[in-house]
Amino acid sequence: MQNVLPSSDKKEQTVQKMFSSIARYYDLNNTVLSLGLHHRWKKKTVELAELGPGDRVADVGTGTADLAILAADQVGEKGNVVAIDLNEAMLQRGLAKLVGRSGVMMARGNAERLPLKDQSVDAVLTGFCMRNVTDFDGALAEIFRVLKPKGRMVCLEFSRPQHPIFRKLYDFYSFQILPAVGQWVSNDQTGVYDYLPASIRQFPDQETFAKKLRRMGFTEVAYYNRAGGIVAIHIGKK
Ligand SMILES: C[S@@+](CC[C@H](N)C(=O)[O-])C[C@H]1O[C@@H](n2cnc3c(N)ncnc32)[C@H](O)[C@@H]1O
Repeated sequence: MQNVLPSSDKKEQTVQKMFSSIARYYDLNNTVLSLGLHHRWKKKTVELAELGPGDRVADVGTGTADLAILAADQVGEKGNVVAIDLNEAMLQRGLAKLVGRSGVMMARGNAERLPLKDQSVDAVLTGFCMRNVTDFDGALAEIFRVLKPKGRMVCLEFSRPQHPIFRKLYDFYSFQILPAVGQWVSNDQTGVYDYLPASIRQFPDQETFAKKLRRMGFTEVAYYNRAGGIVAIHIGKK
């Protein structure tokens, strides 16, 4: 397999170039490539955060703001959601979905240096972002820092299919079919749909990620597989 993962000194720049290139097609591609399932995964992610009216929430790596919008519906008028992303083009797409809505503030910022005060949010949501950061441990430490005591982190991310045969089929889909379809839908020239399966493979599997969260100080760590483990939703409490 060709190595399509950028070295760590170039990762941020390379990843950002990819997201700038596909921002216009991001939502469409998500729906096509997940057969619409990403909507359900995102609903479950927000449900697991157990948000209540008045809560303050951060959506880290918000992209086109799907999690932020779902969270805003839960926290109501007294709560608020700050939706953070490094990528201007993705933020613009998200902003367009916020017309006529209140309760979500979009902010440009890095997951590795969150523009939030210590212990300032009740929950952090993050969807398909942690695989893309350069310093994964640093980003988790930032999430921990900004959470209030007893605050919840919920992370939706690609993971490892559990059944060996299913895993083989999934590898075929993600390394052969997905890059071709993704590139065709978005006319992408940056290689983002080759990067996607490679980045998924190098990301910690369910148990390894759970152990890391515990080591970092999160308690009540658990995870929920979806689509046979293609994605997993990890939760942890501060
Ligand atoms: C795959 S998209 C996910 C978007 C959205 N959360 C969703 O679930 O559809 C990943 C997003 O993470 C953002 N991202 C990557 N690295 C980041 C970083 N270091 N800080 C903030 N955002 C980052 C990208 O710009 C991109 O918008």
